[in-house]
Amino acid sequence: MKHIVLPLTFLALILIVLPQTRAADAAASMARIGAGESPAQRDARMAWWREARFGMFVHWGLYSGLAGTWDGQPVATKGGMEWIQQRVKADTDTYAQRALPLFKPTPDFAREWARLAKTAGCRYIVFTTKHHDGFALHDSQTSDYDAGSKLHRDLVREIVDAARAEDLRVGFYHSVIDWHHDQYCYEKSKQLPHPLKGRPYPNGTRDHNQYLEYLHAEVNELVSNYGPIDILWWDYSAQDFQGDEAWRATALMQLVRAKLPAVIMNNRLYRSPEAGWKSMGTEGYIPQLDPKYGDFITPEQHIPATGMPGVDWETCMTMNTTWGYSDHDHAWKSDETLIRNLIDIASKGGNYLLNIGPKGDGSIPPESVKSMQAIGAWMKVNGQAIYGTTASPFASLDWGRCTRKGATLYLHVFNWPTDGTLLVPLRNQVGGARLLAHPSDSLTVSASSEGVRIRLPARAPDAIATVVALQIAGEPQVIVASSATTSQH
Ligand code: GLC
Repeated sequence: MKHIVLPLTFLALILIVLPQTRAADAAASMARIGAGESPAQRDARMAWWREARFGMFVHWGLYSGLAGTWDGQPVATKGGMEWIQQRVKADTDTYAQRALPLFKPTPDFAREWARLAKTAGCRYIVFTTKHHDGFALHDSQTSDYDAGSKLHRDLVREIVDAARAEDLRVGFYHSVIDWHHDQYCYEKSKQLPHPLKGRPYPNGTRDHNQYLEYLHAEVNELVSNYGPIDILWWDYSAQDFQGDEAWRATALMQLVRAKLPAVIMNNRLYRSPEAGWKSMGTEGYIPQLDPKYGDFITPEQHIPATGMPGVDWETCMTMNTTWGYSDHDHAWKSDETLIRNLIDIASKGGNYLLNIGPKGDGSIPPESVKSMQAIGAWMKVNGQAIYGTTASPFASLDWGRCTRKGATLYLHVFNWPTDGTLLVPLRNQVGGARLLAHPSDSLTVSASSEGVRIRLPARAPDAIATVVALQIAGEPQVIVASSATTSQH
């Protein structure tokens, strides 16, 4: 009894002396950080990803050779053709019989991907180690529905090696949904897709636990055999089937972290509000995430209207409307849209994961090559206005967007001013301003009651987005609308 009196008195003293808010803050953040990680440790782990801002997503697998065609007919001209097996309701034997002969990777495909990512200015690649169809791209001991068994190649190793040779970080997209596995209990979810949905299990009964043993063993191979993988990009869960029940998610994440302590994982093993989701559908996300459910939120095909302060997020997006290659989808986004999306996302504090869908031989559609090169050319001049930047201090700017790195504001001008003057609604003292396209010329800057005025050349050096780097003293003091009030952001 005596022994605990002193510690208890001491504890009571601490509780009185410590400002209550600090104690509450500390308790709250410890609760938020999973696996005993402190906020500072988490920041250190996330640092490269936050700095990177731009990654290349790759959807590639058996569906790529089918290219959106079944029975000689286009399945659709829009939408995800990596779902073709589900769209035509084929069982795995039928699907594989048709798709396998069309999936013929060239020897050099991975080096082409990695070179293109590098040229575009991407800092990381995330690619499909297995999509919903269940075909694994590595050489797996747990399955014979894999590249090792069918092609006598380990395509995951080829891609990882090629990415590392270009000094890119590497992420695995891994589908926890699996349409090929004979124990995957698709009847457990009304919301998750399956080609045989509505039909009884062909093998009578199924034991989902057996599928989970398989899934965990397969992931264990992926996190054990390819060195320090940087990202695990899970896909995906439903409100009616998620987390521990659906995937033994806690154990799955622990298994990954045990092998890869620095790994960064997305939130798609869950579909709950605490994990950043409010509903199904591509706009079903919300700006909150308890770190025990993942490190970042994944808005799909969508850029949040405002940023998500305090939450890490990454918009993933296609260049046309499909993730996996289709011969029939010609709705390509323009270079202008893609470059401005990247800027828009960076100005809101997020990352852009831009998808390519290579063909069955691994070659990249020329439209995607061309656009990635255009982004790369822009990044070569303006990359410092994207990498390592933080969100804009302005709620909106009628001429474009802003990113920030310490005392430098990067002003991305989309609409070149016709009167030759760029008005920046700031009250700060400013240093110099220069165009990243012509860094040795300084621009004339003056102060006015409406803000800082920068004289620009008559013509925009880059019609898509010309960047002005402006030095400011102190924290940005934004002039809000036409009233003379200032606010600190
Ligand atoms: C969706 C789709 C899928 C695609 C992914 C990318 O969840 O099912 O085909 O891989 O989103 O975010």
